[in-house]
Amino acid sequence: MKVQNLIKKAIIPVAGFGTRFLPATKSQPKEMLPIIDKPIVHFIVEEALESGIKDIIFITGRHKRAIEDYFDYAPELENNLFRQNKIEVLNKIKSIANLANFIYVRQKEPKGNGDAILQAECLVRNEPFAVLFGDDIVLSKKTALIQLIEVFEKYRDCTIALCEIPKKFLNQYGVVKAVKIDKNIYEIKDIVEKPRPSEAVSNLGIIGKYVLIPEIFDELKRIKYKDELGITDALKGILKKRPVYGVKIEGKRYDCGSKIDFVKAIIDLSLNHPEVKKEIKKHLKSLKI
Ligand code: G1P
Repeated sequence: MKVQNLIKKAIIPVAGFGTRFLPATKSQPKEMLPIIDKPIVHFIVEEALESGIKDIIFITGRHKRAIEDYFDYAPELENNLFRQNKIEVLNKIKSIANLANFIYVRQKEPKGNGDAILQAECLVRNEPFAVLFGDDIVLSKKTALIQLIEVFEKYRDCTIALCEIPKKFLNQYGVVKAVKIDKNIYEIKDIVEKPRPSEAVSNLGIIGKYVLIPEIFDELKRIKYKDELGITDALKGILKKRPVYGVKIEGKRYDCGSKIDFVKAIIDLSLNHPEVKKEIKKHLKSLKI
């Protein structure tokens, strides 16, 4: 797989409350909910790594310390595994802390994904960078982020991930008006955030993966807002000055912030998981539904 180095940093905003998963998320981050034996956010970090990124900036919040602990050493647990001679699992656990350079910035209040990425401006400065939402998993041969980066390398302008979304769910997405310019590549003309059914300009929704240029920070800072500042708001400003591109992502996408997709991801991934796949297949067959 081609690994590049034009995009060196990924921002993963994880400060949201995860209200769709309450009460499970009352005392733990939604990003730490496990898909079998790996938290959702670990899949996102793997996507960044596979895409050639080593600096990972989490925009975190007061209730999200479990994420920092997960990507750190756990001396008590590790000593315990060592004493029990469970060396394989010990090495696996320890290696997680060394996967990348993990950087944490606090978003003091959850004021939207635009406000979240603005917290990392001082770390990103003048470089283009990736944004990966903490719960959007795409399973594909080529990572969704590499698909974005390849288009970014060609045009050097903001490049966002798109997916065809069923009509009834479009009101949960930023929906784009776009012109197809190549296979899977679009030039964005307009974005309507969470449109009513009559306002949806297409069936292409933005999913939680972006490659952005540093000018996005100027746009974000220009916007006066009360409750929430969105990446979409800034992209609309960018659109007035420069092109923005969209890539219809190839792969199977799971919005693991939603119950349905979270369960689907568990089912699909369990069918490939060496430890459980045999029993799960047997179980699913036995259900006869
Ligand atoms: C955000 C974005 C939206 C995008 C969606 C993808 O909305 O504002 O444009 O389509 O993520 O998950 P949120 O779901 O954070 O409200």
